[in-house]
Amino acid sequence: MTKAIVLTGITTTGTPHLGNYVGAIRPAIAASKDANVSPFYFLADYHALIKCQEPERVRQSSLEIAATWLALGLDTSNAVFYRQSDVPEIMELTWMLTCVTAKGLMNRAHAYKAAVAENEENGDAIAGNDPDKGINMGLFSYPILMAADILMFNANKVPVGKDQIQHIEMARDIAGRFNHIYGEHFALPEAVVDENGATLAGLDGRKMSKSYNNTIPLFEPEKKLRKLINKIKTNSLEPGEPKETEGCTLFSIYQAFATPVEVAEIRRRYAEGIAWGEMKQVLFEHINQQITPARERYDALMQAPEHIEEQLQEGAQKARAVSAPFLKELRKAVGISAITV
Ligand code: TRP
Repeated sequence: MTKAIVLTGITTTGTPHLGNYVGAIRPAIAASKDANVSPFYFLADYHALIKCQEPERVRQSSLEIAATWLALGLDTSNAVFYRQSDVPEIMELTWMLTCVTAKGLMNRAHAYKAAVAENEENGDAIAGNDPDKGINMGLFSYPILMAADILMFNANKVPVGKDQIQHIEMARDIAGRFNHIYGEHFALPEAVVDENGATLAGLDGRKMSKSYNNTIPLFEPEKKLRKLINKIKTNSLEPGEPKETEGCTLFSIYQAFATPVEVAEIRRRYAEGIAWGEMKQVLFEHINQQITPARERYDALMQAPEHIEEQLQEGAQKARAVSAPFLKELRKAVGISAITV
């Protein structure tokens, strides 16, 4: 039986937080242990350049993300874990795909359209001003780079957040176009969106996201973790007053880390009127106890980045064992080859 190839990328622009963990990292690591799938997980560092031009931040983020996945027990004997930039075939494929992609398709990409809409809102698009102000070609053609990430390994399933579904559809379109012109080379990928992978709320109750500046970094030292949890917004109900679990940030975070039995117990305590201070204490203890072993491994890895690099190099080797021969075939298909063989 051929195993399904499951592939996903993580853009290296930030520090992993609890929302990333619950929404993406935890399910991906669980999937990495399934012997029936062949997972490809990678650090999307070329994607990072689209929105981050701070070299130190891109470098640091790559280190932190790699350390996080390894500390959490990613099974690298089954999963291929690599850095996008270590697989140069992806960049070469990007160009081949760029040349079969309609510009009109890219015009319709949400990320690009949102940037134009923002210019229009700010009045930058009127009176002869440029609606494309501040938009680089990386942002514009980013779905093509993402298609290359996916098609390079003929991924069947691509776990992503809802905001990325359009990009997977574009990858299918682009693959279909290439296949139509040059013959059947690519499998058509499918997006996998975890419907019950609830998005975690952040400190202010909005979705936990770097762009809202409301995150709780996953491996924050204990003291800081406690401090951040104490900052989570609550309403002003007094101890002893019954409280709603629905819409409560503390509860929703707790739920993401607890068993159904534990959740039922907390529901009971809400009804009884648990004090917010106490609930924060419960939440802190609960998360801290779950995270401590991984945090210790994370700290150790951060002290020994050469081990991380070694793992990434091994991953790149495994990835290139697939991408190099495949790219050779693709070069031939498009007519890029030596004149004599
Ligand atoms: N663009 C994705 C994101 O921002 C990250 C990513 C890059 C990716 N390449 C990918 C995800 C390929 C899935 C497959 O979340």
